[in-house]
Amino acid sequence: MEQVQVPPTLALALVSVATGVLSPVLGKLSTLLENKYSSLTGVGDEILELQDELSSMNALLLKLSDIDDLDIQVKEWRNQIRELSYEIEDCIDDFVHRVEQRDPEKRKKMKGFFQESIHKLRTLGARSEIASKILKLKARVDHASERRKRYNFDGVPSSSSMVVPIDPRLPALYAEAESLVGIDGPRDELIERLAEGEANLVRKLKVVSVVGLGGLGKTTLSRQVYDRIGRQFDCRAFVSVSQKPDMRKILRNILTSVTGIEHYPGIEACDEEQLINKLRGFLNDKRYFVVIDDIWSTVAWPTIRCALLENNLCSRILTTTRITSVARSCCSPDYSNVYEMKPLSDINAGKLFAKRIFGSEDQCPSQFKDLSNDILRKCGGLPLAVISIASLLASKPCTKEQWESYRNHIGSALEDVPSVSNMQKIISLSYNDLPHYLKTCLLYLSMFPEDFVIPRDQLVRRWIAEGFISTCGGQRLEQVGECYYNELINRSMIMPATQEWDRRAVFCRVHDVILDLIVSKSAEEKFVTAVGNNNHTLGPQDKACRLSLDCRDQDNIVVSSSMVLSKARSFSIYGSSEHTPLLSDFQALRVINIEQNRKLENHYFDDIGRLVQLKYLTLQEVNISKLPDQIGELQQLESLELRWTGIKELPKNIVRLKKLKFLYASNVRLFEGIGNMQALQEVRYVKVDSSIPTTSLDELGNLAELRYLGIDWLVSDSSSDQKSYTDSFVSCMDRLCRFKLRYLNIACDVENGISLDFLLDSWSPPPCLLENFVMRSAYYFPRIPEWASLLSNVTLLDININPVRPEVLQVLGCLPSLLSLSLYTREVAPGATLIICSSGFQCLEEFEFYSWNIAMGPLVFEVGAMPKLEKFVFRLVARCIESPCGNFYLGLQHVRSLKHLLVDIDCRGANAEEVQITEAAIKNATDLTINHVRIDFSRLWMDQMAKDDDAGGMEGSEHRGGEGPAESSTKILLQQHFKIFPV
Ligand SMILES: *[C@@H]1O[C@H](CO)[C@@H](O)[C@H](O)[C@H]1NC(C)=O
Ligand SMILES: *[C@@H]1O[C@H](CO)[C@@H](O)[C@H](O)[C@H]1NC(C)=O
Repeated sequence: MEQVQVPPTLALALVSVATGVLSPVLGKLSTLLENKYSSLTGVGDEILELQDELSSMNALLLKLSDIDDLDIQVKEWRNQIRELSYEIEDCIDDFVHRVEQRDPEKRKKMKGFFQESIHKLRTLGARSEIASKILKLKARVDHASERRKRYNFDGVPSSSSMVVPIDPRLPALYAEAESLVGIDGPRDELIERLAEGEANLVRKLKVVSVVGLGGLGKTTLSRQVYDRIGRQFDCRAFVSVSQKPDMRKILRNILTSVTGIEHYPGIEACDEEQLINKLRGFLNDKRYFVVIDDIWSTVAWPTIRCALLENNLCSRILTTTRITSVARSCCSPDYSNVYEMKPLSDINAGKLFAKRIFGSEDQCPSQFKDLSNDILRKCGGLPLAVISIASLLASKPCTKEQWESYRNHIGSALEDVPSVSNMQKIISLSYNDLPHYLKTCLLYLSMFPEDFVIPRDQLVRRWIAEGFISTCGGQRLEQVGECYYNELINRSMIMPATQEWDRRAVFCRVHDVILDLIVSKSAEEKFVTAVGNNNHTLGPQDKACRLSLDCRDQDNIVVSSSMVLSKARSFSIYGSSEHTPLLSDFQALRVINIEQNRKLENHYFDDIGRLVQLKYLTLQEVNISKLPDQIGELQQLESLELRWTGIKELPKNIVRLKKLKFLYASNVRLFEGIGNMQALQEVRYVKVDSSIPTTSLDELGNLAELRYLGIDWLVSDSSSDQKSYTDSFVSCMDRLCRFKLRYLNIACDVENGISLDFLLDSWSPPPCLLENFVMRSAYYFPRIPEWASLLSNVTLLDININPVRPEVLQVLGCLPSLLSLSLYTREVAPGATLIICSSGFQCLEEFEFYSWNIAMGPLVFEVGAMPKLEKFVFRLVARCIESPCGNFYLGLQHVRSLKHLLVDIDCRGANAEEVQITEAAIKNATDLTINHVRIDFSRLWMDQMAKDDDAGGMEGSEHRGGEGPAESSTKILLQQHFKIFPV
């Protein structure tokens, strides 16, 4: 076979979808040639030969991956080579491990193995049929590579010092897309459709069903309707159904939503029938509104419908689906309630498109007008298609040639009919356009279950553990991984699930249309095997390179016993399973992720020490209470997370983990020997109490790489040696801050008389370099600590102070870098009014103000206050609205930049009307701001609300539909209870 030149990416030795582990194998072969091993192997010649063969294959595989319609034989050939790469890697890893353990017995076997591999490779390469096919492909391969080169698709992964932030146009774009999908037109039409009949006192239940293609924005639209009218009902729920629906889960979700009880007692054990009965019992006398999003089959509907009973109280159900027959069966027999969702108009699609690429809706240069119209026509008004293609174009230099080439790829200009398949073409165009390293990272998302909110940091660490990421500049792997993540967001392949204060999107989701593509690609590439509902298996069933099990809804999911797991690199399981595959079936795992599994026992991990390549171990909501001492054998382990497990103590051998960077172990005491773990960058939630020696705190202070520390302070104020602990802690902090510590999260056990008072004055020198300071418990500083004014680098501050006096805001207002402030208090100092004036808080974007015991009253924004504030979160106590402290005066209209208001309403002791009045008052207040402010209410403790003793309550509910008498009486009540803004 012809020698192909090895591309520079090879030097980075990445694991990838295209080449499996070939690249790292090449790197490892070179290591074997080094002195340390070569005398042991005696197979120098074989290694050189193997390297030769493998590097040409590697290059060819990379090129083949640019062609999407390979024929079966070529695919098979490709798969065999990848498989072989895994075998070779395992063999080398094993060898190196043994050499390091001084166990030379392996040598003979090595020689035989290499000779065999070379032979296999040669036959694979030489089989004449394949060889001629590949020759023919070569022309196309070269063409594809040429194109990639021309557009600079590939390059080297953003290494060096380039940082990829999330495109600042994106948050605005998603907001825009939402408003284009729903506002005014369709949303109001749907609301009207739902309200029909109410006026004539028709009390029958009504079902309206939205039908339309995937990517059209059905979920967005129904969410808008839900937000707009949901609160007019006695109870409500918004529930998503997946393609493989699990009825119990859906019914449980409806039940927890309508009742507002998060942990409904005994609900896990209920079967379908019991759940239906509970729901019917609860809904019997309540006017309800339930949205069932994305129903896939007519089979699921009758069960749901059975639980949502006809109670003749004007209840409403809204369903969405892609399938017309499903929509009709939902509404049956009243087919006029099928609402066909329309695509975006040409004008709106154009706006969205231009906004994504040029940052403003009317800035499309004239020479691009025709091209953009062509492209938009193919999008068929589907917002998801518009955003995807626009994100693709935005990532490229803006040239006519480029645009033409993409237009031609979506399909011929003649077929003008917008269709689902255009959507798929666009999505797969976006996919094919990704550089290899991003394809790999993206396909890895098929390890997560459907509808999953994926935490960024865990995802990035798993990428790293799998070897998808490398770095050659000074950047840390985690930083490079975050750049990849942001690139995927910028290309609209994944969506930010929440917007955090610093816009870093720490959680993401995948649109189900895109997930379909990811899952099918990764099955086709034999990249991931995913087993889910009803034992349904996607991807290779004979051998798994990566195995993911979703048992969240069924505990009898079984992995076929003939599946070979010994080569698997990642193993994830979500939910409790009766049949969790045994760790002894695996040999090459890099990643173990076990979540929500209540059936595992301690002995499951007995053998874990065998998995010497393991780099990432996460157990979340797993019942085990102990890890074996063998954990110390895992010399490659970099990340160990134990969240909500029963583990209270780590095995002694933990301190042997010299490469461990991330340790998350809530509930665990700080331990002796931690000073040996010099690679540690994050240590979260260790307990410090007086049973540990103070020398452990001294050891902690030696961790020169530590960036993040989370501590639970449990040393009692009254204990005799408290001073020696606090002194050690303060000196430990001082040293850590001089090294790399930038994030501190601290809590204490207030109920047992423990406080952080010692930090008030004696924190010296103060931690001036901290960027984040977070307090987590019910402890309140009695005044603002002296050092607070010195935190000049702090961007996020979450602090408890009680009582809050005006000077607190003065001090905090002067912190020059502060972006996000959460201020918790029990009460504002009596008689004080907190005034936020125009001089402080110049860059603050997010402000959370929580006061527990009173309604918010005396917090006033003056003209020009918090000029950058976008998000304001506060808590109101609904019960208090009748008390004298309820003078509701915020001056919110003075916060010109405000976009989002989140209000937690404490419903305890209040009746339904009081809660409604409180919400109305806030809405009323925001009407006076200049922006369109989004408001989200959360009603807390709804189960502790006062019952209406008013027997006419039922009649009242008739009016709640809209602009009826209820509205005006609310206004009167408002004027009685609130001082509305002076005009
Ligand atoms: C999966 O397969 C096993 C064995 O074939 C069977 O016992 C189990 O009930 C199946 N589970 C589901 C949810 O179908
Ligand atoms: C933040 O810390 C750095 C040192 O790491 C220092 O150079 C810089 O001046 C600090 N910034 C502010 C705003 O104090």
